[in-house]
Amino acid sequence: MKTQFVNHLVCLNHSDKQIRLKLNNLISDNQNECIEGFLYCIKCDTKYPIIEGIAIVVQDMLAYIQNRTEMYGKWLLHCQSKEMKEYLTKIGKTIIVFNKSNTYEDGGIWYLPYKWFQQEHHKEDRLIKSLKGSQSANELYDRVINSINPKIDGIALDIGCAMGKTTLQLAQKYSFVIGIDLSFSFIKEARKSMKEYKQGNIEFCVADAESPPFHPMKFDLIIAINLIELVNTKKLLSSCHWLLKPQSDIILTDPYDFNRERILDKIYDSKSFRSLIEENGFEINESCLKKEAFIPWILKINERIYLFYFVDFIKAKKLSKHKVNLNKY
Ligand SMILES: C[S@@+](CC[C@H](N)C(=O)[O-])C[C@H]1O[C@@H](n2cnc3c(N)ncnc32)[C@H](O)[C@@H]1O
Ligand SMILES: [Zn+2]
Repeated sequence: MKTQFVNHLVCLNHSDKQIRLKLNNLISDNQNECIEGFLYCIKCDTKYPIIEGIAIVVQDMLAYIQNRTEMYGKWLLHCQSKEMKEYLTKIGKTIIVFNKSNTYEDGGIWYLPYKWFQQEHHKEDRLIKSLKGSQSANELYDRVINSINPKIDGIALDIGCAMGKTTLQLAQKYSFVIGIDLSFSFIKEARKSMKEYKQGNIEFCVADAESPPFHPMKFDLIIAINLIELVNTKKLLSSCHWLLKPQSDIILTDPYDFNRERILDKIYDSKSFRSLIEENGFEINESCLKKEAFIPWILKINERIYLFYFVDFIKAKKLSKHKVNLNKY
């Protein structure tokens, strides 16, 4: 984590999200990066670890680890400082179930499909070649990025950024961009790309879309690409509303595939999702209001299996007058 990134983060335990975190940098490299350390809150003493250069700013670290015990074992084996070993060992004593792996972590079923989509060269792909190039695997991302006007002094957030493909492109249009995702493995890959492309105006961290560690009205733009069926959609929208400056844009795309991961109590389609967005204090862009989009999006499961989606696209603006109940999230 770039050491200055601490200035962007707030503690999750205070409903007004105004208490900034401090950095205890235990191991750093010579490029002003914290490789291992803790972010901590002087008000409530909560500590958030930084492991392998990645800040993990989640409310319940035990629950996070509980879902990724294999990865936890690796952290414990490879961490370099005595403080981190003690911290991880202490949490480890309360783990109940071992051998759990999250589907979006390295080794999980969704890791390789996203790696293919976000990192590989699609021109050599069997399906894309057999479609004689008429189908671009990148159409969705191009559509999102092309719809964004540059704001050279603006700050943007990519929620559920996976390996950071859209985040890296956004950084060409905004002065600073933050990508968050719950998958440690995805954020690790995203940070590798950030370094490869020498992109200085980006940082990534592990954080939950339903409880992001940022103060209110921080962002000039938020994008959340294909995320809504994986989270509590109402919480996502109210936290985005809270994070955006008035009159700022949000871009949401989704295939409404509520069978993909987990069935939530509420399922949306293009119509009900538009209504929900409006109920949560946004004004939908005229061009997306009545007309749903059908943008191709392909996930490669393996050499013989692909998932093909048509994804909807919505751009909306935060209305200033809407009141958000902070206790709701
Ligand atoms: C369907 S993928 C979309 C990834 C990327 N935006 C894209 O379109 O290629 C959903 C992503 O959201 C992440 N995710 C799921 N639940 C999340 C949550 N509560 N907070 C943050 N990220 C989450 C997953 O790890 C995954 O990377
Ligand atoms: Zn605190």
